[in-house]
Amino acid sequence: MAESITIIDNRTGNQLEIPIEHGGVSAAEWQKLLPGIWFTDPGFMATAACESSITYLDGEGGILRYRGYPIEQLAESSTYLEVAYLLLHGELPTPAQFEAWRHDITYHTFIHENVRKRFLEGFHYDAHPMGMLVSAVAALSTFYLDAKDIFNEESRNKQIIRLIAKMPTLAAAAHRFSVGMPFVYPDNSLDFCANFLSMMWKVAEPHFQPDPVLTRALDILFMLHADHEQNCSTTAMRVVGSSHSDPYSATAAAAAALYGPRHGGANEAVIRMLTEIGSIDEVPAFVESVKQGHGRLQGFGHRVYKNYDPRAKIIKRTADEVFAVTGKNPLLDIALKLEEIALNDEYFTSRKLYPNVDFYSGLIYQAMGFPLEMFPVLFAIPRTSGWLAHWTEMLDQSSKIARPRQLYIGADQRDYVPLNQR
Ligand code: CMC
Repeated sequence: MAESITIIDNRTGNQLEIPIEHGGVSAAEWQKLLPGIWFTDPGFMATAACESSITYLDGEGGILRYRGYPIEQLAESSTYLEVAYLLLHGELPTPAQFEAWRHDITYHTFIHENVRKRFLEGFHYDAHPMGMLVSAVAALSTFYLDAKDIFNEESRNKQIIRLIAKMPTLAAAAHRFSVGMPFVYPDNSLDFCANFLSMMWKVAEPHFQPDPVLTRALDILFMLHADHEQNCSTTAMRVVGSSHSDPYSATAAAAAALYGPRHGGANEAVIRMLTEIGSIDEVPAFVESVKQGHGRLQGFGHRVYKNYDPRAKIIKRTADEVFAVTGKNPLLDIALKLEEIALNDEYFTSRKLYPNVDFYSGLIYQAMGFPLEMFPVLFAIPRTSGWLAHWTEMLDQSSKIARPRQLYIGADQRDYVPLNQR
């Protein structure tokens, strides 16, 4: 027998049976019995805003899969570019498809000279690179007027390739500008991650060849960050995209959502927290102060994961490989102690607060030489493929424009009082 719920309107005694489908009940059905009565759900704690076949996330079980493939297998054997293809197209590419994809991405990494010279160089000398990235992505919409043709498949694919390919170039350009270093053009002989590292760190050498261990670590981190179903920035992408704005504008909105410390800024907050703690001896007192309500344990807790974030497990392993090359991040011991104490403390276990993806990723990025300001930028580069996969899915589902209701709790009608009588 199909599963269902029955709701009763106690004012009238009318009732309605609603089927439970894919773990949800339709609000449209609910409206048939209760027109004008809205669900109150700030923060979308209990609302599924769409159907999606991109990413499966089981927060209780600590499971994450892209298009059915476990994140552990992808992190072990795949690459970010392949994962981006998988997210967007639903299947792993054949060798020929992958070669065409790799070629297209590689040959769209350059940005228009005006973006760099006139736009990026117009920022204040100490501009935050994430602010520069958000603005630069939005500015791209003015360079590609065909981007407005969102239901033309060829145009849509072209913008997707451009966005994925140009994100590392914009990111590195923002960094170089913020530290007063000259812009480095993309090197098409390098793969996606190596090219990004070259644009970040190249100084005077004719050809920059990054350490393969660090390149692979970045590739793994990019895979882990590529998608995470309906998080804040992806929701922003879908909401803005639902008005049929062009993909650059929608991606800029998503990146803006990612900028906040509760989302993409969390790994920066972790490093600041560990630096503030200063030594292992101070960890118990710090944990105690968090329990007393003074701040939060950054990099802990998640709206969906009520178990160890599977991405955090993979990152912890990757950290060891990176530290073998870069030397150990001195903050690691504090992080390990913090994790040990928190995982054995009733305050955290009863609230199901476990390390999330950001707890260790910042330590790796810092050891690799990235300044803290680049952390949200490093998140935005790979998440672009996830945002675009959701944007495409949303358009293909002929979604309605996102337009929630509200419960009005303000003043009743009252008469205007002229300024001189107030
Ligand atoms: N440290 C201490 N207590 C916490 C923490 C934390 N990091 N997170 C949640 N709590 C407590 C919170 O005080 C509350 O306790 P009580 O029931 O006594 O009031 C309870 O746990 C539930 O918290 P909540 O704020 O209702 O949970 P939420 O689902 O709204 O928030 C979160 C999720 C990720 C915003 C939150 O856990 C947090 O602020 N974590 C720290 C920031 C962080 O690491 N963010 C990265 C998230 S993962 C990357 C991404 O997806 O962007």
